[in-house]
Amino acid sequence: MKQSVLAALRQGKQPLSGTALGKQLGVSRAAVWKCVHELRRQGYVIDSSPRKGYTLVSSPDLLLPEEIRRVLATRSFGKRIICRDECTSTQDIAAELARGGEPEGLVVIADTQTRGRGRKGRSWISTPGAGICLSIILRPGLKPSQIAQIPLVAGVAAARAIRAVTGLKPDIKWPNDILVGGKKVAGILTEMSCEIDHINHVILGIGINVNTLKSDLPESIRDIATSLCAECGHNISRVALVQRFLNELESLYRSYQADGFVSIRQEWKSLSNTIGSQVEITDGGKRLTGEVLDIDGDGFLLLKTDAGSIERIVAGDVVKPS
Ligand code: BTN
Repeated sequence: MKQSVLAALRQGKQPLSGTALGKQLGVSRAAVWKCVHELRRQGYVIDSSPRKGYTLVSSPDLLLPEEIRRVLATRSFGKRIICRDECTSTQDIAAELARGGEPEGLVVIADTQTRGRGRKGRSWISTPGAGICLSIILRPGLKPSQIAQIPLVAGVAAARAIRAVTGLKPDIKWPNDILVGGKKVAGILTEMSCEIDHINHVILGIGINVNTLKSDLPESIRDIATSLCAECGHNISRVALVQRFLNELESLYRSYQADGFVSIRQEWKSLSNTIGSQVEITDGGKRLTGEVLDIDGDGFLLLKTDAGSIERIVAGDVVKPS
C-alpha cells in the first residue's frame, strides 16, 4: 500500500488530497495518512497543505529495491534486489542464493557490512549510509580460465557509471581498482563456483566509497583511497549510481557474451592508468618489474620485464614506483 501511495504521489502533478488518494487506491483516508506517516519516517519529504493535499517534495537516498528499480532499463540485472541494513558480506548472501539455484541478475545490497572482503584476503570497510556494497549473481557459461575477464567488464561499467553520475573522470588500475585522481574509490571482487571445465556461478562484488568522509576512511588507507563526495565536493546519489552501474553492467556483459573481451578491450585500454607505465607487480611470492605494454585479448597484462622478456600476467598487485 505504501508503495502505491508513493507511486500515486510521484505521478501526481498537482497535490493529492487524502480522500482522492484513498478513492484512487480503494482505501480509507486514515490508511493513506498512515502510509504518508510511514514514508516520512523513512525520509521522504511530503508536503501537506490543508485544502490541497499531499505533494512529494523529495526522496531519501536509501538503497531500497523500489527506489533502485524505478529507472532500471535492464532485462535481468536487478529484477530481484535484496537490500539489508547490515550483513557480514553481500558476497555470502548472493553465494548462498546462487547455490540454491537463484538465476542470473539477482542483486544483494547492504548499507554496511561487518565482514566485507576485498581481493587477496583483505578487508573492505564501509561507512553506514555512505557507500555502496553490492553483489550480483552471474552465470556466464564460461570456462574457469576466462574468469579474469569478468572484473574487467565490471571495471568499465563502474567507470562509465561514475563518470555519468558525478562528472569525474575515473581510471582503472589493472586488474580492477577504480581510481579518481590516483586514489582508489571503488574495488571489484570476483568469486566463483566451478567444475574443472565449467563455471557454475560468479558472484561479482563491488564496493564504492560514495559519500564517505575522508575522516571516516581507515587511517591506514587515507593516502591511497578517497570517495566520490570528497572528490566532487558534494554528496552523490547512491541510488542513481547503483541504477547506472546495473544498466551499464548489463549492456557491457551482453556485448561481452556475444563478442568476447575484444568488444570492450579498447574502452578498457582508454581507461587504464597502467598501460605504458613502469610498474612493479607482485603475486604471492613472485615479483616482477618492467613496462606494461598492453592488455591482450584474454584480459591478461603484457609486461616487458627489466630482463627483456615479455610476460603474460594473469593476476597480481600493481604498484607504480614513485
Ligand atoms: C578490492 O578492492 O579488493 C575489492 C573490494 C570489493 C568489496 C565489495 S563490497 C560488496 C562485496 N561484498 C564484499 O564483502 N566485498 C565486495
